[in-house]
Amino acid sequence: MCLLKLVLGLTLVALVKSNEWCYTGCGHTPEHWEALPGSHCGGEKQSPIDIVSSIVTIDPNLDNFIFVNFSSQSAIKNITNNGHSVQCDIEANEVEVSGGGLDGDYSVLQFHFHWDVANHSGSEHALDGHHYPMEMHIVTAKKGVLPNETLNHEDGLAVLGFFIDATEDGNLSWPWETFTSYLKDITEEGSSVKVDNITIDDLIGDVDLTKFYRYMGSLTTPYCHEAVVWTLFHEPIKVHKDLLLHFSTENSIAPNYRPTQPLNGRIITASPAAPPAHLWCYEDHCDYTPSHWSNLPGSYCGGESQSPIDISTDSVVENENLSSFTFTNFDNKHAIKSITNTGHTVQCVLEDGLVEVSGGGLNHVYSTLQFHFHWGTESADSEGSEHSVDKKRYPMEMHIVSKRKNLTLEEALNTPDGLAVLGFLIEAPQSPRSMSSSVPAETPSPTPSSASDMEAWKTLTSYLSDIKDIESEVEVTDEISIDDLLGNVNRDSFFRYSGSLTTPSCNEAVVWTVFKESVKVDQDLMALFPENAGYHNVFRPGQSLHSRKVYTTAAAPGPGPVAGPGPGPSPGPVWVYLLLPCLCALYC
Ligand SMILES: *[C@@H]1O[C@H](CO)[C@@H](O)[C@H](O)[C@H]1NC(C)=O
Ligand SMILES: *[C@@H]1O[C@H](CO)[C@@H](O)[C@H](O)[C@H]1NC(C)=O
Ligand SMILES: *[C@@H]1O[C@H](CO)[C@@H](O)[C@H](O)[C@H]1NC(C)=O
Ligand SMILES: *[C@@H]1O[C@H](CO)[C@@H](O)[C@H](O)[C@H]1NC(C)=O
Ligand SMILES: *[C@@H]1O[C@H](CO)[C@@H](O)[C@H](O)[C@H]1NC(C)=O
Ligand SMILES: *[C@@H]1O[C@H](CO)[C@@H](O)[C@H](O)[C@H]1NC(C)=O
Ligand SMILES: *[C@@H]1O[C@H](CO)[C@@H](O)[C@H](O)[C@H]1NC(C)=O
Ligand SMILES: *[C@@H]1O[C@H](CO)[C@@H](O)[C@H](O)[C@H]1NC(C)=O
Ligand SMILES: [Zn+2]
Ligand SMILES: [Zn+2]
Repeated sequence: MCLLKLVLGLTLVALVKSNEWCYTGCGHTPEHWEALPGSHCGGEKQSPIDIVSSIVTIDPNLDNFIFVNFSSQSAIKNITNNGHSVQCDIEANEVEVSGGGLDGDYSVLQFHFHWDVANHSGSEHALDGHHYPMEMHIVTAKKGVLPNETLNHEDGLAVLGFFIDATEDGNLSWPWETFTSYLKDITEEGSSVKVDNITIDDLIGDVDLTKFYRYMGSLTTPYCHEAVVWTLFHEPIKVHKDLLLHFSTENSIAPNYRPTQPLNGRIITASPAAPPAHLWCYEDHCDYTPSHWSNLPGSYCGGESQSPIDISTDSVVENENLSSFTFTNFDNKHAIKSITNTGHTVQCVLEDGLVEVSGGGLNHVYSTLQFHFHWGTESADSEGSEHSVDKKRYPMEMHIVSKRKNLTLEEALNTPDGLAVLGFLIEAPQSPRSMSSSVPAETPSPTPSSASDMEAWKTLTSYLSDIKDIESEVEVTDEISIDDLLGNVNRDSFFRYSGSLTTPSCNEAVVWTVFKESVKVDQDLMALFPENAGYHNVFRPGQSLHSRKVYTTAAAPGPGPVAGPGPGPSPGPVWVYLLLPCLCALYC
């Protein structure tokens, strides 16, 4: 019996006397848990973690869960204040869970909570850096494993984690009204009362149980045994904030969450129904269109430093710090590893750690990860760029995405200059648009692109017919470099501002560079993007500038642009460049 008790009490008192560790105000706060004798808290597979939705992998084996007796009226026995949490013990061997990619049947032992309702930050796990006010853990043990050995198996326990969000609108939902009414009876540590007439299903409510994340981790309290298969459901349980406040006001437990731990190379997988793949979109076939992206769980899309923007050349500010860029391995013809149809764009993934960007007024060296495209329709007058200059939009835009070299992707997404994106506007050569260009005279207007440039685009777009299916990927075998694609576009003349990712979660972590001169790509090659991908208008509408400033490189002194590190030919007299398109506008 005492063996069973060991497992029943696992987050808890049975393992460690409650005064040996705490969240605040004792010798062993979370950063010192690893110093507790026999502790695993300094291990490599610790929980909780930040679930970064852009790096999760869909795993088709994560099928639907089978829940047994979750709606049993007699399953929840009592509710106890154990000093670290509020815990409900479950009738032994009556409630079970299996499926959901779990290897075997798991028996439900107890559930408990972590919270800091007042600060809206009490969930242990985070989703794209976003914490919820509370998190519920349903703790289950693998059947067939002896209780005294559960903690020695990496999947000895399975914990089902639910985020709990505080709502202000709608009903005080009755199950939670009933449930929270018990809290006033267990204000003292060690107190416990019997619970009636509530089921686990009542508390979970209408959360979509097919959308979840999975990773291998640990108990989130000492001794942090690495014995847990974690499931985090994507959708939060929604409870009125007045009810959640009972957790904070009727005992002195909060805050009782452990800070997020490093991933250390672990893989996070997601069930096929889980976002990000299909939750958001640009047009109207999904739950969240751009104007609703700010409602996505964990999203920053409603922030004040969002991208893209319209760049008004009247109000840009010259900045002498915007020097020339240094592009490392942009000329490497083997740097592009593969091309993927993500369902939102066509993305070219680069070899790890090969391509870099620095200079250009950036304060760090950035490692380039990928580039991708935004487009409109197949038509010649399509407007698919995200940024616009003096309200003028372009047919396409290319984004070269880099992250600060010494940050992990997760860190970069939570750092104001964690990412640097180079934005190139794309249009057809000699299109009428280039004539009406607002670009000032220091930038040469376009010459017709050289033959080799268009060869590179022909090669790149030749892969598109192989990735018509969403999530399909093709390896790049041709020799093609980023320089080949950019051609002779002037890379010393650009705009700079601080903004965000232009797709959910819209993290405000991007130093934006938008080059003034456009890259020229033949119209029929541009049309291959929407034609093969099968979707159109993959751009986010312009966002408000709010109090931000847009900077511009200083006008070049004297005639002709300053020679840059790019492969461009040395420019002839400015008038040639100005004249060519003018003549063309009149006579072509
Ligand atoms: C479910 O609950 C019922 C009644 O409480 C019980 O008879 C049954 O054995 C339980 N099922 C499992 C799989 O434990
Ligand atoms: C919670 O918020 C209060 C006031 O906003 C602040 O004083 C306190 O430090 C916060 N606590 C934590 C743990 O962040
Ligand atoms: C667990 O208990 C069983 C007997 O119930 C015993 O044979 C086994 O050695 C124990 N395992 C550990 C790790 O103590
Ligand atoms: C509140 O809940 C009741 C019963 O569940 C329902 O009939 C009513 O429509 C709800 N009201 C609102 C505003 O959601
Ligand atoms: C609550 O239920 C558990 C499981 O049956 C039991 O071990 C514990 O003693 C109960 N607590 C109280 C205070 O009744
Ligand atoms: C629980 O339900 C039973 C019958 O369904 C009822 O008689 C009892 O009053 C309820 N108890 C509470 C506390 O609501
Ligand atoms: C240029 O950089 C220097 C040094 O970092 C800084 O003091 C100055 O304000 C910057 N100038 C502008 C226009 O941002
Ligand atoms: C990364 O480098 C910057 C300086 O460029 C430094 O301030 C920062 O502490 C470094 N961060 C890490 C995680 O090494
Ligand atoms: Zn927990
Ligand atoms: Zn983009």
